[in-house]
Amino acid sequence: MGRNLVITVKNICCIGAGYVGGPTMAVIADKCPHIKVNVVDINTQKINQWNNSDLNNLPVFEPNLDKVINRCRDKNLHFSTDIREHISMADMVFISVNTPTKQKGIGAGKASDLKWVEACAREVAKYAKGHTIVVEKSTLPVRTAEVIKTILEVAHKNYKDLEPVPTFDVLSNPEFLSEGTAINDLENPDRILIGGENLNAMESLSNIYLNWVPKSKILFTNIWSSELAKLTANAFLAQRISSINSISAICEATGANVREVSRAIGLDSRIGAKFLNSGPGFGGSCFKKDILNLVYLAKYYGLHKVADFWESVVDINNWHQSRISQLIVKKLFGTISGKKIAILGFAFKANTNDTRESAAIQICKELIEEGANLIIYDPKVDQNQITIDLGLEPLEKNCSNKEFISGMGSWEFSNKLNIFENSHAVLVLTEWEEFMNIEWQKVSLQMENPAWIFDARSILNHKKVLDAGLNLWRIGDGSNLSQ
Ligand code: NAD
Ligand code: UGA
Repeated sequence: MGRNLVITVKNICCIGAGYVGGPTMAVIADKCPHIKVNVVDINTQKINQWNNSDLNNLPVFEPNLDKVINRCRDKNLHFSTDIREHISMADMVFISVNTPTKQKGIGAGKASDLKWVEACAREVAKYAKGHTIVVEKSTLPVRTAEVIKTILEVAHKNYKDLEPVPTFDVLSNPEFLSEGTAINDLENPDRILIGGENLNAMESLSNIYLNWVPKSKILFTNIWSSELAKLTANAFLAQRISSINSISAICEATGANVREVSRAIGLDSRIGAKFLNSGPGFGGSCFKKDILNLVYLAKYYGLHKVADFWESVVDINNWHQSRISQLIVKKLFGTISGKKIAILGFAFKANTNDTRESAAIQICKELIEEGANLIIYDPKVDQNQITIDLGLEPLEKNCSNKEFISGMGSWEFSNKLNIFENSHAVLVLTEWEEFMNIEWQKVSLQMENPAWIFDARSILNHKKVLDAGLNLWRIGDGSNLSQ
């Protein structure tokens, strides 16, 4: 089906205007002014947000994304819902749609739900004209390219009377950006991975990246290695976090300090210093989903020990999150019923408005179940998103005392950081910079005594917290600062 020549890509269509599609295409447009880039989505509201003249209203918050959008939007970067039109004009189509874990049917709870990817392949099959290179940007289970190819081949047969006959190449080009640093990651990637069968198509894609990425960083592999490498990279990164979080529990039990342990092991160049920050447990839309995909794959091939090994990375992450909510109950004299707890941060990490799989969700749900009254603040997450995530409506502001002391768990939202009044505890869940500058002397005057600060990110100046007369628990700190 493939083409025997390297094409110069002039028109890109990216299906999916989410956390990956939006920033990735913005950077391609910025670095390649000679290429017209159209990002399409079925979600009209999202497309309107991408087209909003106020750059504070983009659907994705990423440092410096607004500047890139400002440089290219309506020049060579366009956001639209006209999927048909833009597929038909494109010589390269990126598929960048969501691939969440399946909720029901075969593989439920582990395998990826590929219905959105399949829908895209069908749209490309229907509307593409001439030769089109189809690029998997979404993270996909190994051998998905085969499914896409099969769907496209049917199109090739159905439309063989068209002139020119539609032809396709399928490539895998997984994305390795991290949210919060997406623009920097896209502009300075560690590597670009291109998996495929047709070297000409691979070079056509590689030529786009060569506009700003050195050739030495562009890797060609077979298509299955590329798909598997993406799942493996996320599994290895998540495994490091589960490893260090498991050690944090040992530190707390023995008197060691996980930051000291991280530093000591990270200086070993074979281990390296990154991804050794103990926290409330990894979140984000991908780590859990991609590991569970790997688990499904291993089970499918009868590799049950391999499946168990990777599943334990997710299991310990869940256990670690519950460990935090349980220790809060324990430190607050065994009951948090009717107690006010101020929650600092709800996003799964700093510098993003994304809450998918955030550790805050499970931890807050468990605290509410124990009867706590939470007041939640995050600089970039709004009340509506938290309501969806917790599956519970918030209490109205300044609700009556009756509701507050009834012992029924509840939560309320604040769009400002002044949430400490009458609280029994503060829990830091996201490492936003503004939390590092809190004046603890002032806060301590507002809190109920004895007051506790739980720092699940270990970002606070512990001396200032303790000097303010507050009790402090820090993740992985066995020095028992306050007891
Ligand atoms: P997202 O949910 O933010 O965006 C996906 C978009 O695709 C949505 O806006 C949705 O409306 C759109 N869509 C779905 N089906 C469509 C269709 N048939 N036609 C047009 N639009 C359609 O997801 P995301 O976070 O951008 O992730 C996309 C993929 O990239 C996933 O496979 C994910 O695993 C992978 N990935 C994500 C990240 C990340 O940091 N979020 C990083 C690397 C890889
Ligand atoms: C992760 C990978 O880092 C990206 O390379 C990958 O492209 C992406 O998943 C994906 O496929 O979606 P992301 O989830 O955006 O990126 O963010 P990370 O920085 O990896 O953080 C993930 C979670 O781990 C966060 O909750 C973060 O707080 C936590 N984390 C990270 C720690 O608890 N400790 C660390 O040392 C690092």
